[in-house]
Formats: sequence, structure tokens, C-alpha cells
Amino acid sequence: MIQEEVWLIEPSGPLRGDVEVRGSKNAVSKHMVAAMLGSGESTIANAPEVGEVGITAAMLEALGIHVQINGSEIRIEPGPEIRPRVPDAFTGLNRIPILMLGPLLHLAGEAFVPLVGGDPIGRRPIDFHVEALRAMGAEVEVGEGGVYAKAKRLNGARIELPYPSVGATETILMSAVLAEGKTVIKNAAMEPEVVELALFLQRMGGRIELSPDRRIVIEGVGHLRGASTWLAGDRIEAFSYLAAGLVTGGEVRVHGCAQDRLVTAITTLARMGAQFDINDEYVCATAPPAGLRSAAVQTDTHPGFMTDWQTPLMVLFTQSQGMSVLHETVFENRLVYVPALQKMGCEIEVFDQCLGGPACRYHDTNAKHSAVVRGVSKLRGADVTLPDIRAGFSGVLAAAVADGVSTLRGVHHIERGYHRPYEQFASLGLNIRRQR
Ligand code: UD1
Repeated sequence: MIQEEVWLIEPSGPLRGDVEVRGSKNAVSKHMVAAMLGSGESTIANAPEVGEVGITAAMLEALGIHVQINGSEIRIEPGPEIRPRVPDAFTGLNRIPILMLGPLLHLAGEAFVPLVGGDPIGRRPIDFHVEALRAMGAEVEVGEGGVYAKAKRLNGARIELPYPSVGATETILMSAVLAEGKTVIKNAAMEPEVVELALFLQRMGGRIELSPDRRIVIEGVGHLRGASTWLAGDRIEAFSYLAAGLVTGGEVRVHGCAQDRLVTAITTLARMGAQFDINDEYVCATAPPAGLRSAAVQTDTHPGFMTDWQTPLMVLFTQSQGMSVLHETVFENRLVYVPALQKMGCEIEVFDQCLGGPACRYHDTNAKHSAVVRGVSKLRGADVTLPDIRAGFSGVLAAAVADGVSTLRGVHHIERGYHRPYEQFASLGLNIRRQR
């Protein structure tokens, strides 16, 4: 039996130093899927070395798409024979298979993908994806084991998303670029990673217009070519390392992620008292000697405070002076990681009401999506199992300021989404050891 790796972390004092972030995990896999649509080779540069890339590459290979990974560069080229079925072995590994439906319909006229996975942070339904494909003329059946779709040719359609979903917007983009006629997406997601994907598709020959008011217009074309791109820096990773410096009273300089991707994060941290040094090379955050102040923060779609930033923020709240409030409005179950932090002494209470902001979609549900956090909490080392990528990073932050040794299990989650996190943490001075 393979022994799972665990990380042992001991109190380490302030984390200091430089971190270089690569292209974002949430963009790289989508670009890999988009490359299926080009006749000829596509190149994706500045790719992170994260588990997600390996999983997506293996899926593409299984479909007959050639993938070559050489450090930070990924080359992708569709082979002569496309197999339209993502093997069942990929069930539950990540959210990528659902995005392959549109491209597979273009390449093969039919597609099967096993039911999508991803982190356990909400129901994560796929109804928007399925309805959009149906609106474009595909026959789609959602069964126990996965989703089966069939279409001779997709047609353009007018699609209004009930919520500006990142994944559904990406599904529509990748389905509409080669569809017959015009597609209009209303209430589209405008996250930087979505725009980045739209730009890549435009380089491949797609005709995409980003209009005001969350409206995207795509005019289908008959053919796309391969293209090259350099991925922009991962804003989730950048924020996470800024938080690592702040929570330990240190100072981390993050290179490779432009300021405009972090604007709301920087302002939120500055309101809590963090001091910033920002230039064209890096963003650096330092905590004031008296520590950070509490805050009330609500997660939102871009350009609001990103939902993936709230897990490190929660640990920061436990080390800030006073009571803080967090209102999660994007995923109803994103606070599943709170018990792991509570085990380490974090004083966090969760509520099903909308606290710290106006009523959200989860107002009348039982979803515990608001949290009140008491700072400054004295944290203690514990043996905890990390439930997902973002929560995993928070576990490390809590362990870095806890008394005693912490044993973190499930670290593969962190490695799925962060570029070499063990090495990065060690280089910042974290007292961290691997054990199998
Ligand atoms: C992506 C990101 C994730 C980020 C999220 C929001 C990737 C791999 N993951 O996830 O890190 O936190 O965007 O910025 O890029 N919804 C439905 N039906 C659907 C699709 C979505 O109800 O068919 C709902 C979801 O349950 C959720 C909301 O829409 O409440 C937003 O989800 P979505 O934007 O689609 O997130 P992902 O694309 O899965």
C-alpha cells in the first residue's frame, strides 16, 4: 500500500522572502482544453507545475490529443483520431471533463465525460453547462456515471446564465467559437481567467466580443488554428503567500502576479492595517508592529473579493485584533474546512444567516455560509486532514502560528493547485518536514 505523504510543521517565526508565482491553475487547464479546438500545435508558457496539469494532460492523451510538458511549457496538438470518451478512471478528480463536452462535440459529434469532481465546497451542479449545450442544439443526457452528449453541429444561441458561473461561461465560449452562427451570453462571468481564455480563443481565430454588462458575443467560425500564449500570474496563489507573510508577522514579496489582479485583495488587507510596497516587479505586504485589525468581508464575483481568497483570510482573521465577519456568497459550502481550523484552536462560529453584507442566494437556506471569527486566538498544533486545495493552504498557515507540532494530512490537495508549495514554504523559513 502506498503511504500518503504528511507534512509536519512546527512554529517557525515570521515568514520572509520572495515567491515567484506562475500562471494560474484555474487558467492553465482551460487553455489545455481550448487547444483541442485548434488544427495544429498550441503552446502554453509560464504553466505552473501543479497536479491539475498532469490530470488534464492524461485526460487529453486518453482522447487522442498529444501533450508534451517541458517544465513551464506545455505543447498540445490534436492527433488524427479522436476518442470521444473521457475514461471513467478520471471520475471525481477535478472539474475539467465537463469543459471538454463542447470541444469533443466539434471534434467527434459525440462525447461522454464522467461526472465531474473538484473540491467538496458546495453542490457544484452542472445544470448551467448542460442547459447551455442543449440551447445550442446538443442532445445531452445526465446519467449516474456521467454526461453523454451528441450533436452533428452546434448552433449559436442566446443564453442567459442564472448566475455568472466561471465554468459555464467557459463551456459556452469553447462551444460557441466553432458553432454555426452567433451566440450571446448574458450574465457571463468576467473573471480574469475567463477573459484570458477568451483572448486565447481569439488568437486561435475565434470571434469574441466582450461587451458591457456581463454580455459576451461569439460569432462562430469554421476553423481555429493552434496559438501560443504566456499565462498571467495566479492571483489566488499570490494572495495566499501575502497572507502567509502577514499572519506570521513577516514579509513576503510576491513576483509574477500583476497588481490589477489583486486590487480588491490589496485594499481589503490595507484596511486591516497591512502596509504595501507595490511596483512593476512585485507586491509586498507587511503587518504593522501592533498586528492587523479585524474586518467584515463578503466574497463575490470579480472584481469583488474572490471566494478562493477567503480561506487564508480566515486564518488571518484569527490572528487580527477583534471580531471579524466573513460572508461567503459564491459557494454555499465553502466553510467545510472550519472544523479543521477549530481543532487547531481557531475561534470561528458559522451561521446560516447572511452576516457582513446584503442577503445573498443562500439567505433562506440552511447553508452555513457566514462566519464570525475571534482574534487574536492562541492556536495549537494538531493532527488534521485537509479537505480541499484552498483549505489545505490555510491549514499550513494555522500550523505556522500554532504552538507545537501540527501533522497535516491530505497535502496532495495543496499540490493539485499550488506550484511546489513545500519548497516555497521551506524557502520562506517555515519549519516543515515531509513524512511518508
Ligand atoms: C471556478 C474556479 C474556482 C472559483 C470559482 C468562482 C476553476 C477550476 N475553479 O470554479 O476556483 O472559486 O470559479 O470564481 O476555475 N453553478 C450552478 N450550476 C452550474 C455551474 C455553477 O449552480 O452549472 C453555481 C455553483 O454552484 C456556484 C456558482 O455557480 O454557486 C459559481 O460557480 P462557478 O463560477 O461555476 O465555479 P467553477 O467554475 O466551478
